Amino acid sequence: MNASYRVADASAIYSPALLFYPDLIRRNIARIVETAGSLDRVRPHVKTHKTREIVGMQLEAGITKFKCATLAEAEMLGSCNAPDVMLAYPLVGPNCQRYAVLTAQFPKTRFSVLVDHPLGAKALSAAMQQTGRQAEVLIDLDVGQHRTGVAAGPAAAELYRLIASLPGLKPGGFHVYDGHNHQEALPDRQKAVEQLLAPVLELRAALEKDGLSVPRIVGGGTPTFPVWAKLDIPGLECSPGTCVLHDHGYGSKFSEMTFTPAALLLTRVISRPTPTRVTLDLGYKAVASDPPAGQRLILLDVPDYKAVLQNEEHLVIETPAAEQFPPGTEVYAVPTHICPTCAMHRQAYIIRDGQLAEHWDIVARDRALTI
Ligand SMILES: Cc1ncc(COP(=O)(O)O)c(C=O)c1O
Repeated sequence: MNASYRVADASAIYSPALLFYPDLIRRNIARIVETAGSLDRVRPHVKTHKTREIVGMQLEAGITKFKCATLAEAEMLGSCNAPDVMLAYPLVGPNCQRYAVLTAQFPKTRFSVLVDHPLGAKALSAAMQQTGRQAEVLIDLDVGQHRTGVAAGPAAAELYRLIASLPGLKPGGFHVYDGHNHQEALPDRQKAVEQLLAPVLELRAALEKDGLSVPRIVGGGTPTFPVWAKLDIPGLECSPGTCVLHDHGYGSKFSEMTFTPAALLLTRVISRPTPTRVTLDLGYKAVASDPPAGQRLILLDVPDYKAVLQNEEHLVIETPAAEQFPPGTEVYAVPTHICPTCAMHRQAYIIRDGQLAEHWDIVARDRALTI
């Protein structure tokens, strides 16, 4: 294990615990900016950490634009005086009204939001009209993930024109998230982005020919970040999320990436029920369980182990070295998927120079803050 992860005295850390390493986070933030080529081209997604202090570190690094997925994350960003916040989520029902309140509550922040259907556009227009303010709206283009969005084509052009015509709305460009592109080989990701871009750029050209402005294209997550970052497209912004903390899932899959895991879990051995079995207090209520059982984390410095069972509060492994792990032993783990893992913890323990320094609240793990 990288010695810088070890906490000299972990007695004040209640396991299972989420640990953040600010020095490594700072290094990942610097790599994000370096990869994007300039501060202008970076719009990191905050859903990974949901934490004011990390937003503060990003602001300190000169980042001004942020992406988020929930109104609580958007409010967290507003409360940090983030200059530019994009809520990358289509709003329906009472969330349209909440969005209107949000924009009024943080007038210094420039907010924008996604729309992918005329009904959503109309509902947002109605909510914004009550505030007398204008919402900047990007259309969400479905470029292959088929999760949200509208394909780049006539329906998308029509939606963009509708946004331009509705009171309280102003068209702000395209959102192009390609979360389905996580091919292991970088050239495969490059090819996939090239293919999805052609109709997107055609749509932009057609709208601009009609006199509509398409000021920005917000593209990608971490897997295709190195690809988007190399593109020379006016108004391009890259929106990786995970790599600010990074995790075992991406770290083990994308060999070209130089980000470092900056968030770990501390767990303790609670039992050794058989001579080859070790049970840790790291159940699936403390680590994201969207990866398959047995692949949700890697334990550092545990030889030849195999995860054989995980319950809500227990992780059971088999290892020939079980004898070296008596109850109470501290073990460090790198989660496979850090974003949902963070959301499972109310606080992170902050480790500086091998010591517990403070705690940070994972404030936007709540669905609603004050709005
Ligand atoms: C819309 C959107 N943009 C950006 C991201 C960031 O992607 P990643 O976590 O792979 O960096 C995500 C991740 O879920 C997303 O949903």
